[in-house]
Amino acid sequence: MLTNDVLQQLHNHKSIRAFQDRPVSDEVVATILSAAFAGPNMQNFQPVTFIEVTDQKLKQAVTDRVGMGYIASAPRFFVVAVDWHKLLIGQSAENQAMIKEKISSYQFLEGGIVSAAIALGRAQVAAESLGLGSVTMAGVMGAFDLYEKELNLPDYVKPVMGFSLGYPDQEPGIKPKLPLTGSYMKGAYDEDQMVAAVTDYDQTMKDYFASRGMDNTWTEHNAKLLAGTKINDGLTAYPNDKELNQH
Ligand SMILES: Cc1cc2nc3c(=O)[nH]c(=O)nc-3n(C[C@H](O)[C@H](O)[C@H](O)COP(=O)(O)O)c2cc1C
Repeated sequence: MLTNDVLQQLHNHKSIRAFQDRPVSDEVVATILSAAFAGPNMQNFQPVTFIEVTDQKLKQAVTDRVGMGYIASAPRFFVVAVDWHKLLIGQSAENQAMIKEKISSYQFLEGGIVSAAIALGRAQVAAESLGLGSVTMAGVMGAFDLYEKELNLPDYVKPVMGFSLGYPDQEPGIKPKLPLTGSYMKGAYDEDQMVAAVTDYDQTMKDYFASRGMDNTWTEHNAKLLAGTKINDGLTAYPNDKELNQH
Protein backbone atom coordinates (compact mmCIF):
# COMPACT_ATOMS: atom_id res chain seq x y z
CA MET A 1 0.00 0.00 0.00
CA LEU A 2 1.04 3.59 -0.55
CA THR A 3 1.71 5.88 2.34
CA ASN A 4 2.25 9.53 3.18
CA ASP A 5 1.79 11.78 6.23
CA VAL A 6 -1.97 12.17 5.76
CA LEU A 7 -2.50 8.43 5.24
CA GLN A 8 -0.36 7.59 8.26
CA GLN A 9 -2.36 9.95 10.39
CA LEU A 10 -5.62 8.42 9.17
CA HIS A 11 -4.35 4.95 10.11
CA ASN A 12 -3.26 6.17 13.56
CA HIS A 13 -6.77 7.25 14.53
CA LYS A 14 -8.10 6.35 17.96
CA SER A 15 -11.04 7.76 19.85
CA ILE A 16 -9.98 9.61 23.00
CA ARG A 17 -12.06 9.44 26.16
CA ALA A 18 -9.69 10.96 28.74
CA PHE A 19 -8.50 14.54 28.40
CA GLN A 20 -5.73 16.59 29.98
CA ASP A 21 -6.75 19.48 32.15
CA ARG A 22 -5.39 21.79 29.47
CA PRO A 23 -7.52 24.40 27.75
CA VAL A 24 -8.23 24.19 24.03
CA SER A 25 -8.14 27.70 22.62
CA ASP A 26 -10.88 29.26 20.50
CA GLU A 27 -8.34 29.53 17.69
CA VAL A 28 -7.76 25.76 17.77
CA VAL A 29 -11.52 25.10 17.78
CA ALA A 30 -12.07 27.49 14.86
CA THR A 31 -9.20 25.86 12.94
CA ILE A 32 -10.64 22.37 13.42
CA LEU A 33 -14.23 23.27 12.65
CA SER A 34 -13.46 25.36 9.58
CA ALA A 35 -11.49 22.40 8.18
CA ALA A 36 -14.43 20.14 9.00
CA PHE A 37 -16.93 22.35 7.20
CA ALA A 38 -14.73 22.69 4.11
CA GLY A 39 -15.89 19.20 3.11
CA PRO A 40 -18.67 17.75 0.99
CA ASN A 41 -22.25 18.22 2.13
CA MET A 42 -25.69 17.82 0.60
CA GLN A 43 -26.07 20.24 -2.37
CA ASN A 44 -23.95 22.77 -0.51
CA PHE A 45 -26.93 23.38 1.79
CA GLN A 46 -24.42 22.94 4.66
CA PRO A 47 -27.11 21.49 6.89
CA VAL A 48 -24.94 20.95 9.96
CA THR A 49 -24.35 23.09 13.05
CA PHE A 50 -22.08 22.28 15.99
CA ILE A 51 -23.53 23.81 19.15
CA GLU A 52 -20.90 24.01 21.87
CA VAL A 53 -22.18 23.36 25.38
CA THR A 54 -20.39 25.96 27.49
CA ASP A 55 -22.42 25.57 30.67
CA GLN A 56 -20.50 23.11 32.85
CA LYS A 57 -23.69 22.27 34.76
CA LEU A 58 -25.34 21.17 31.53
CA LYS A 59 -22.27 19.13 30.53
CA GLN A 60 -22.47 17.42 33.91
CA ALA A 61 -26.20 16.81 33.52
CA VAL A 62 -25.60 15.16 30.14
CA THR A 63 -22.79 13.05 31.61
CA ASP A 64 -25.04 11.98 34.49
CA ARG A 65 -27.83 11.09 32.10
CA VAL A 66 -25.81 9.07 29.58
CA GLY A 67 -23.02 7.81 31.82
CA MET A 68 -20.12 9.20 29.80
CA GLY A 69 -17.63 11.04 32.00
CA TYR A 70 -15.78 12.31 28.95
CA ILE A 71 -18.49 14.90 28.31
CA ALA A 72 -18.20 16.76 31.61
CA SER A 73 -14.40 16.33 31.63
CA ALA A 74 -13.86 17.39 28.00
CA PRO A 75 -12.43 20.90 27.64
CA ARG A 76 -14.80 21.38 24.70
CA PHE A 77 -18.04 19.49 24.04
CA PHE A 78 -20.38 19.99 21.08
CA VAL A 79 -23.85 18.81 20.24
CA VAL A 80 -23.80 18.17 16.50
CA ALA A 81 -27.10 18.93 14.80
CA VAL A 82 -28.66 18.44 11.40
CA ASP A 83 -29.75 22.01 10.74
CA TRP A 84 -32.29 22.69 8.01
CA HIS A 85 -33.51 25.81 9.78
CA LYS A 86 -30.79 27.88 8.11
CA LEU A 87 -32.41 27.30 4.70
CA LEU A 88 -35.55 29.13 5.84
CA ILE A 89 -33.72 32.37 6.55
CA GLY A 90 -34.28 35.14 4.02
CA GLN A 91 -37.04 33.25 2.20
CA SER A 92 -40.52 34.52 1.40
CA ALA A 93 -43.47 32.95 3.26
CA GLU A 94 -44.35 31.07 0.09
CA ASN A 95 -40.84 29.68 -0.29
CA GLN A 96 -40.70 28.81 3.40
CA ALA A 97 -43.81 26.67 3.05
CA MET A 98 -42.31 24.92 0.02
CA ILE A 99 -38.96 24.40 1.78
CA LYS A 100 -40.57 23.06 4.97
CA GLU A 101 -42.36 20.45 2.90
CA LYS A 102 -39.06 19.26 1.43
CA ILE A 103 -36.92 19.37 4.57
CA SER A 104 -39.48 17.36 6.53
CA SER A 105 -38.78 14.32 4.35
CA TYR A 106 -36.67 11.33 5.24
CA GLN A 107 -34.54 12.16 2.19
CA PHE A 108 -33.39 15.38 3.84
CA LEU A 109 -32.94 13.85 7.27
CA GLU A 110 -30.66 11.24 5.73
CA GLY A 111 -28.73 13.83 3.71
CA GLY A 112 -28.31 15.91 6.84
CA ILE A 113 -27.05 13.00 8.91
CA VAL A 114 -24.53 11.98 6.25
CA SER A 115 -23.37 15.61 5.98
CA ALA A 116 -22.95 15.72 9.76
CA ALA A 117 -21.00 12.45 9.73
CA ILE A 118 -18.61 13.78 7.10
CA ALA A 119 -18.06 16.97 9.12
CA LEU A 120 -17.41 14.90 12.25
CA GLY A 121 -14.89 12.66 10.51
CA ARG A 122 -13.03 15.64 9.15
CA ALA A 123 -13.08 17.39 12.54
CA GLN A 124 -11.60 14.26 14.10
CA VAL A 125 -8.78 14.16 11.53
CA ALA A 126 -8.12 17.91 11.83
CA ALA A 127 -7.97 17.58 15.63
CA GLU A 128 -5.53 14.68 15.44
CA SER A 129 -3.31 16.64 13.04
CA LEU A 130 -2.91 19.27 15.79
CA GLY A 131 -2.18 16.75 18.55
CA LEU A 132 -5.68 16.76 20.00
CA GLY A 133 -8.04 13.83 20.45
CA SER A 134 -11.78 13.46 20.21
CA VAL A 135 -14.68 11.09 20.42
CA THR A 136 -17.91 11.04 18.46
CA MET A 137 -20.89 9.88 20.52
CA ALA A 138 -24.34 8.72 19.50
CA GLY A 139 -24.98 7.89 23.16
CA VAL A 140 -25.39 11.58 23.99
CA MET A 141 -28.75 11.44 22.24
CA GLY A 142 -30.09 9.86 25.43
CA ALA A 143 -30.25 13.45 26.70
CA PHE A 144 -32.02 14.98 23.69
CA ASP A 145 -34.71 16.47 25.93
CA LEU A 146 -32.00 18.48 27.75
CA TYR A 147 -30.77 19.93 24.45
CA GLU A 148 -34.33 20.86 23.54
CA LYS A 149 -34.79 22.57 26.88
CA GLU A 150 -31.41 24.27 27.25
CA LEU A 151 -29.99 24.98 23.78
CA ASN A 152 -32.72 27.11 22.24
CA LEU A 153 -33.05 24.82 19.23
CA PRO A 154 -35.45 25.95 16.49
CA ASP A 155 -37.64 23.52 14.55
CA TYR A 156 -35.71 21.67 11.86
CA VAL A 157 -32.56 21.61 14.03
CA LYS A 158 -32.08 18.08 15.27
CA PRO A 159 -29.07 16.96 17.30
CA VAL A 160 -27.70 13.65 16.09
CA MET A 161 -24.32 13.24 17.78
CA GLY A 162 -21.96 14.54 20.45
CA PHE A 163 -18.31 15.47 19.99
CA SER A 164 -15.79 15.82 22.83
CA LEU A 165 -12.46 17.47 22.12
CA GLY A 166 -9.26 17.97 24.09
CA TYR A 167 -5.63 17.05 24.52
CA PRO A 168 -5.36 13.28 25.11
CA ASP A 169 -4.63 12.00 28.59
CA GLN A 170 -4.54 8.36 27.52
CA GLU A 171 -2.93 6.15 24.92
CA PRO A 172 -5.73 3.70 24.15
CA GLY A 173 -3.95 2.04 21.22
CA ILE A 174 -5.27 1.61 17.74
CA LYS A 175 -8.38 -0.56 17.48
CA PRO A 176 -7.88 -3.02 14.61
CA LYS A 177 -10.50 -2.81 11.90
CA LEU A 178 -11.94 -5.44 9.54
CA PRO A 179 -9.68 -6.46 6.69
CA LEU A 180 -10.52 -4.42 3.62
CA THR A 181 -12.46 -7.41 2.25
CA GLY A 182 -14.96 -6.84 5.06
CA SER A 183 -15.72 -3.28 3.96
CA TYR A 184 -15.07 -3.28 0.22
CA MET A 185 -16.85 -5.36 -2.39
CA LYS A 186 -15.93 -5.24 -6.04
CA GLY A 187 -18.66 -5.70 -8.68
CA ALA A 188 -21.38 -6.99 -6.35
CA TYR A 189 -21.91 -7.97 -2.74
CA ASP A 190 -20.14 -11.27 -2.05
CA GLU A 191 -21.50 -13.06 1.02
CA ASP A 192 -18.68 -15.64 1.10
CA GLN A 193 -16.13 -12.84 1.07
CA MET A 194 -17.89 -11.17 3.99
CA VAL A 195 -18.11 -14.38 6.02
CA ALA A 196 -14.37 -15.00 5.47
CA ALA A 197 -13.54 -11.42 6.47
CA VAL A 198 -15.61 -11.59 9.67
CA THR A 199 -14.11 -14.99 10.57
CA ASP A 200 -10.62 -13.62 10.03
CA TYR A 201 -11.38 -10.46 12.04
CA ASP A 202 -12.80 -12.50 14.91
CA GLN A 203 -9.32 -13.93 15.45
CA THR A 204 -7.70 -10.49 15.22
CA MET A 205 -10.12 -9.14 17.82
CA LYS A 206 -9.76 -12.20 20.06
CA ASP A 207 -6.06 -11.33 20.32
CA TYR A 208 -6.87 -7.63 20.79
CA PHE A 209 -9.35 -8.32 23.60
CA ALA A 210 -6.97 -10.89 25.18
CA SER A 211 -4.27 -8.20 25.33
CA ARG A 212 -6.79 -6.20 27.40
CA GLY A 213 -7.69 -9.11 29.67
CA MET A 214 -10.98 -9.92 27.95
CA ASP A 215 -12.13 -13.18 26.41
CA ASN A 216 -14.19 -12.13 23.38
CA THR A 217 -14.34 -12.34 19.64
CA TRP A 218 -15.82 -9.45 17.66
CA THR A 219 -19.05 -11.36 17.00
CA GLU A 220 -19.39 -12.30 20.68
CA HIS A 221 -18.65 -8.75 21.74
CA ASN A 222 -21.22 -7.37 19.28
CA ALA A 223 -23.93 -9.69 20.62
CA LYS A 224 -23.18 -8.56 24.20
CA LEU A 225 -23.25 -4.90 23.20
CA LEU A 226 -26.52 -5.30 21.35
CA ALA A 227 -28.14 -7.32 24.15
CA GLY A 228 -27.29 -4.47 26.51
CA THR A 229 -28.60 -1.77 24.16
CA LYS A 230 -31.90 -0.30 25.24
CA ILE A 231 -33.82 1.24 22.34
CA ASN A 232 -35.00 4.73 23.22
CA ASP A 233 -38.51 5.03 21.75
CA GLY A 234 -38.57 8.75 22.55
CA LEU A 235 -35.58 9.18 20.28
CA THR A 236 -37.35 7.29 17.48
CA ALA A 237 -40.26 9.73 17.69
CA TYR A 238 -37.97 12.78 18.00
CA PRO A 239 -37.51 13.48 14.24
CA ASN A 240 -41.29 13.75 13.89
CA ASP A 241 -41.50 16.06 16.87
CA LYS A 242 -38.80 18.20 15.26
CA GLU A 243 -40.69 18.32 11.94
CA LEU A 244 -37.96 16.33 10.26
CA ASN A 245 -38.81 13.07 8.54
CA GLN A 246 -42.57 13.45 8.61
CA HIS A 247 -43.00 11.62 5.34
C1 LIG B 1 -22.02 6.79 14.94
C2 LIG B 1 -21.03 6.64 16.07
C3 LIG B 1 -21.50 6.56 17.37
C4 LIG B 1 -20.61 6.45 18.44
N1 LIG B 1 -21.10 6.49 19.71
C5 LIG B 1 -20.24 6.44 20.74
C6 LIG B 1 -20.72 6.60 22.07
O1 LIG B 1 -21.91 6.80 22.30
N2 LIG B 1 -19.82 6.54 23.09
C7 LIG B 1 -18.49 6.33 22.85
O2 LIG B 1 -17.72 6.27 23.81
N3 LIG B 1 -18.01 6.19 21.61
C8 LIG B 1 -18.84 6.25 20.54
N4 LIG B 1 -18.37 6.14 19.26
C9 LIG B 1 -16.93 5.87 19.03
C10 LIG B 1 -16.78 4.40 18.60
O3 LIG B 1 -17.01 3.55 19.71
C11 LIG B 1 -15.36 4.17 18.06
O4 LIG B 1 -15.15 5.01 16.95
C12 LIG B 1 -15.17 2.71 17.63
O5 LIG B 1 -15.22 1.85 18.74
C13 LIG B 1 -13.81 2.50 16.95
O6 LIG B 1 -12.77 2.90 17.81
P1 LIG B 1 -11.72 4.00 17.35
O7 LIG B 1 -12.49 5.25 17.01
O8 LIG B 1 -10.79 4.21 18.51
O9 LIG B 1 -11.04 3.44 16.15
C14 LIG B 1 -19.23 6.33 18.18
C15 LIG B 1 -18.76 6.43 16.87
C16 LIG B 1 -19.65 6.61 15.83
C17 LIG B 1 -19.11 6.77 14.43
